[in-house]
Amino acid sequence: MLISSRYLTPHENKPKIYGIKRNCMILVGGPASAYLAEKLSKASGHKLIEIEHKLFPDGESYIRFPEKIAGEDLLIVQGFHPPQDKHVFQACLMADAALDLGANSVSLIAPYLAYARQDKRFLEGEALSLNTLLKLLKAAGYKRAYTVNVHSPWAIESSPIPVKDVLAEEALAEHIKTLGLEDIVVVSVGKKGKCMAERVAELLETEYLVAQSTRDKFTGEVTVEIEDDVGGRCALVVDDIISTGGTMAKLVEKLKSMGARRIIAACIHGLMIGDAAEKIIRSGAETIISSDTVPSSYSRYSVAGILAREILGRT
Ligand code: R5P
Repeated sequence: MLISSRYLTPHENKPKIYGIKRNCMILVGGPASAYLAEKLSKASGHKLIEIEHKLFPDGESYIRFPEKIAGEDLLIVQGFHPPQDKHVFQACLMADAALDLGANSVSLIAPYLAYARQDKRFLEGEALSLNTLLKLLKAAGYKRAYTVNVHSPWAIESSPIPVKDVLAEEALAEHIKTLGLEDIVVVSVGKKGKCMAERVAELLETEYLVAQSTRDKFTGEVTVEIEDDVGGRCALVVDDIISTGGTMAKLVEKLKSMGARRIIAACIHGLMIGDAAEKIIRSGAETIISSDTVPSSYSRYSVAGILAREILGRT
């Protein structure tokens, strides 16, 4: 059913944690997200320390704080996009080293929180990867963490450290507004996709629809169904993550076959694994848009402004 955003209740992303001395925090650009830390520093006016980093010949990470940090409250910016495990371990090295060097506290901004799709046991015997990751962050010394559009918001509620999920739909919608698209219908898939489509449609003052999908637990193969008429319209397909591009390509293919006039593929986290982009374009999308939580040539809009506002209190 096509739904008009005029009738929606505004989404509430309840802040749960706080009490940081926001103005005194020093940003630290980790190896994975130095570019974003720099943008965040510019947007918020907070001091930035660029971590010194190199890889040893065997691939191990070297981390050094190039200036004194004793007594400081640090906000380390380090995304967990691929190579996830390396980026996670670097985050642990930074927190542990900082506290050892006398930092007063360390908090983390992980714009992309890896392992959030493995938040429960889909098959008996599986690791609860997200739980393990959050326990690791706590053990490394992080006091709190912030992320962007986490895949499983319900799972961070029971995290051993407070995690705030900052929503980036506003940044996406602002970018879409600059494209001059007409007669947009926002399309997404599944329960979570519905929330995202609803928020984006509301910001763009347009309608949205939700496709139904099923994913095979063993092969990962996705099938999608759309009941509404999208003929002649501009379909803005939104998803939190594009990983292999399979889900997005299926949606685009379906919309194309239903006569959509233009199809734009948009996401927050563009992991773009392997031939994801080619797959999506081949299916009929005219362009792919993602944020800079995961840096790529598809990063067309930034989450820095929203992070500065939501975490550091700057507009
Ligand atoms: C699934 O629940 C997510 O919202 C994304 O649709 C999914 O992670 C995308 O993965 P892929 O690009 O591999 O289909």
